[in-house]
Amino acid sequence: MSDWTQNLQKTRYVMDTLLLISFMMVSAPQTTGVPLHEWLSLLFVVPFAIHLLLHWDWIKQSLRRFSAKISAKERFSLVWNYLLYVVMLLATVSGFLVSVALLPAMSISFEIQDFWSKIHHDSATLIMPMLGIHLALHWSWIVNLTKRMGKRAPAQ
Ligand code: HEM
Ligand code: HEM
Repeated sequence: MSDWTQNLQKTRYVMDTLLLISFMMVSAPQTTGVPLHEWLSLLFVVPFAIHLLLHWDWIKQSLRRFSAKISAKERFSLVWNYLLYVVMLLATVSGFLVSVALLPAMSISFEIQDFWSKIHHDSATLIMPMLGIHLALHWSWIVNLTKRMGKRAPAQ
């Protein structure tokens, strides 16, 4: 594998690890407290955007690939990524709509509706198993890269 491809894979690996850690922190408002949960969720947008940027080629080709001849696993993964994106978006948008710390700190306040609280709860709960499947679909990549990251580069 060329150096460039190797480095891209390693960058993805490091960024995926940071993404997973930040996601776990965002998913535990009972531990962090709701105000910190809200600020962490705002920060979470950064590693998440980087995750999408590091797969920009995949995203650009994804709609075309949908009608192409691809394996059932690839097709499933394609649909799954889109569903995951929608649920993640729903959790973030509904989070802002039930904000009790972040938006009031910016002098934005409105009446919180039970509907959005329920959507936030349900979408956040749904992300966990969906993410589990997303990771399972890339399990061999995770195992391969974990082995490769542990190895030292050969001396020049
Ligand atoms: C929140 C935690 C997430 C983690 C830890 C995570 C982790 C991973 C891993 C390990 C891979 C395979 C390795 C790689 O190429 O980087 C991957 C690929 C990918 N992920 Fe995520 N992901 C997360 C969320 C998402 C979400 C919400 C989307 C929604 C669009 C997404 C879209 C993608 C895409 C498009 C790919 C590459 C295409 C593919 O092979 O499926 N990821 N992700
Ligand atoms: C990926 C993004 C997010 C995830 C995964 C997430 C996850 C969660 C979880 C699991 C809970 C506990 C829900 C319950 O047990 O009922 C929660 C509650 C809460 N979250 Fe988030 N959250 C996200 C984004 C946000 C954002 C952006 C905000 C606001 C700026 C926010 C504000 C709140 C508030 C105020 C609560 C407590 C009140 C309630 O549940 O209605 N969240 N979140």
